[in-house]
Amino acid sequence: MNSEFELFPEAASTAAPSVDRLYIFLLGLSLVFTVLIAGLVFYFAIKYRRGNRVDRTQLPTSIRMELSWMIISLPILMFIFLWGAKVAFFLVRPPADTMPITVVPKQWMWKFQHASGRREIDVLHVPINQPVRLTMISQDVIHSLFVPVFRVKQDVLPGRYTSLWFEATKPGEYRLYCAEYCGTNHSRMIGRVIAQTPGDFAEWLAGDSGGDEPPEVTGAKLFEQFQCATCHAQGGATPARGPALEDLYMKEVALADGSTAIADETYLRESILRPTKKLVAGYQPLMPTFEGQIDEEGVLHLIAYIKSLSEESRDESRESKAGETSGSRPSTLDSRPAGGNQP
Ligand code: CUA
Repeated sequence: MNSEFELFPEAASTAAPSVDRLYIFLLGLSLVFTVLIAGLVFYFAIKYRRGNRVDRTQLPTSIRMELSWMIISLPILMFIFLWGAKVAFFLVRPPADTMPITVVPKQWMWKFQHASGRREIDVLHVPINQPVRLTMISQDVIHSLFVPVFRVKQDVLPGRYTSLWFEATKPGEYRLYCAEYCGTNHSRMIGRVIAQTPGDFAEWLAGDSGGDEPPEVTGAKLFEQFQCATCHAQGGATPARGPALEDLYMKEVALADGSTAIADETYLRESILRPTKKLVAGYQPLMPTFEGQIDEEGVLHLIAYIKSLSEESRDESRESKAGETSGSRPSTLDSRPAGGNQP
């Protein structure tokens, strides 16, 4: 792709053709009505111009005419609504076997991390023919990730996970934009998406990562650094002061107030940063807040560590280590859409 002006971006994802069809339909429909209305404006302006001898008596209000434009436009608009809903559902429902990537933007850069641990800034490598799911949270203000050739765009918010999925279909190098004004250098918050064949991607992923370690390994270190085990380690002489974290991910948790919560990313993040907000039944509100002490990347690493403690993802990460270069899909991130991004 070159940087020349182009009227329509290339279509390089599985979502692109369906988004384009709807877009072109809407454009065509608008064109039909624009021509019709503008044509009538001209026609009547000429026909009823001052001085022209024409019949100027007004027609009485006709219920049939009133009804007719409602009855004609309703199915057209419902058709657009249903079509739009279908496309929207496709865009917000990732398939089951997505490859997870975390995104933590800040003023003014995009930071990506792959499940293998490999990090990138302002460049995102992805394989083609493989659904990719981004879990995103901002370190500061609202940003918005926009990849025109994939026809996907999603706000990235501070304090809340949002997600975005796509499946690239064509190898190439594409533009990535920040689509939400986020301060002085917003317009320079541009990056590149490099879509590669699965083989090239595996080669890139296995290449020199500059010592990037898998997120769950960084998470385990943070776990130690903040001495989380003091309260969360089970099996000691006295009952642990904090709930067990093994096999916690995506499980239902009974809370002190009688309600329940699902231990997804959003819940785990909140419990690290504001531990007393959803107190687990049977425990005292002893845990200090870690707000301001751990940045969003650190929280994601801790969550990755907690996930690695669940049986299912232990199995999966073993598989992924065995088959890293065969484009395997290590993920429990994707068994369910992250909270906060439902249609
Ligand atoms: Cu980040 Cu605009």
